[in-house]
Amino acid sequence: MKKITVNANTSYDILIEGGLLKQCGRLISETVKSAKCVIVTDDNVDKLYGDAAVKSLEDSGFTVSKFVVPHGEESKSHNQLISLYNFLCERDITRTDFLIALGGGVVGDLTGFCAATYLRGIDYVQIPTTLLAQVDSSVGGKTAVNIDRGKNLVGAFKQPALVITDTDTLSTLSEEIYAEGMGEVIKYGMIRSLPLFEKLSRGNSKEDLEEIIAECVSIKRSVVQNDEFDTGERMILNFGHTFAHAIERAAGYGSVPHGKAVAMGMYMITHAAEKQGKAKKGTSEQLKKCLEINSLPFEFKISHEDLYRLSVGDKKRTSDKIRVIICPEPGSCEIVPLDLREYRELIDLV
Ligand SMILES: NC(=O)c1ccc[n+]([C@@H]2O[C@H](COP(=O)([O-])OP(=O)(O)OC[C@H]3O[C@@H](n4cnc5c(N)ncnc54)[C@H](O)[C@@H]3O)[C@@H](O)[C@H]2O)c1
Repeated sequence: MKKITVNANTSYDILIEGGLLKQCGRLISETVKSAKCVIVTDDNVDKLYGDAAVKSLEDSGFTVSKFVVPHGEESKSHNQLISLYNFLCERDITRTDFLIALGGGVVGDLTGFCAATYLRGIDYVQIPTTLLAQVDSSVGGKTAVNIDRGKNLVGAFKQPALVITDTDTLSTLSEEIYAEGMGEVIKYGMIRSLPLFEKLSRGNSKEDLEEIIAECVSIKRSVVQNDEFDTGERMILNFGHTFAHAIERAAGYGSVPHGKAVAMGMYMITHAAEKQGKAKKGTSEQLKKCLEINSLPFEFKISHEDLYRLSVGDKKRTSDKIRVIICPEPGSCEIVPLDLREYRELIDLV
């Protein structure tokens, strides 16, 4: 089993291995000192893994309840949050009890935000079951729900008490959802690790999943430890995301899955940066090959005008500058502040 410790404002371990779900009761009992918990999961994940989680927890002496939401982004909502608060009250969940997020990023973000706010904060454990959640959303303590005006607009920083990553759970993911997670995995290679990028460029990621996930988690750990509250370095995790948000908006939310939009966003910005001499010649071609071998797209048809208009309001913008993440070559990245004219010039090269 791989164990990665995150030293944020609280310290916690991320345990990675196939088969850990069946041991979750014992693993949690070694960390969390409470007898009562609520599993938050979605209907898909519940059917596949709900019983195994409950059995393991009960075998270790926990009193367990389960709160199941419909799968999909719509469940990261205030309505579900309020229903969950009420459910916790009905079950007499107190400050010393804890929640478990069993599922993908949707369940993780909803549960984490509930844990950050219910009774002014209780513990929660992440058991991520999508590739995206295992390499990204379960690590680092960002939690949120969506509101009508946009995604993740209401949230909190709340680190989990423990993350249990059972790589076997990924075997039931559809190829589509697996590929989406690979978009974020490739992002880690591009921003921080040439060896990881080269490994991913050979394809066959499934043969070495535990190692790949651990490498991504280590990269995210180091970024989060340096900038837990997202005021500087953490921004590099947004490589590809400024264009991705514009692509998602142009296509209509939900039409292009986030992971695919990130894949296209990474390629498009690298291609433009290369033309400007900000990235080494050939970098975008290397990235394109890596995306293709991992069943990810690299291009999206959008006018420069729309790309500019839909991306310029991105969260990473300060009043007159937009900060973009550029990889001069695979394995390294820079945060580049551009004024709006320079940003437009970059976009015109996409
Ligand atoms: N907090 C963070 O730092 C952070 C980072 C990145 C993304 N996110 C958030 O994560 C969310 C996306 O997460 P996601 O991609 O995991 O989506 P998701 O949670 O919606 O899961 C995708 C689908 O996979 C299904 N599923 C989950 N595990 C499965 C399994 N093992 N086998 C079969 N099906 C399974 C789910 O039921 C769902 O239908 C977004 O809301 C995004 O904003 C948060």
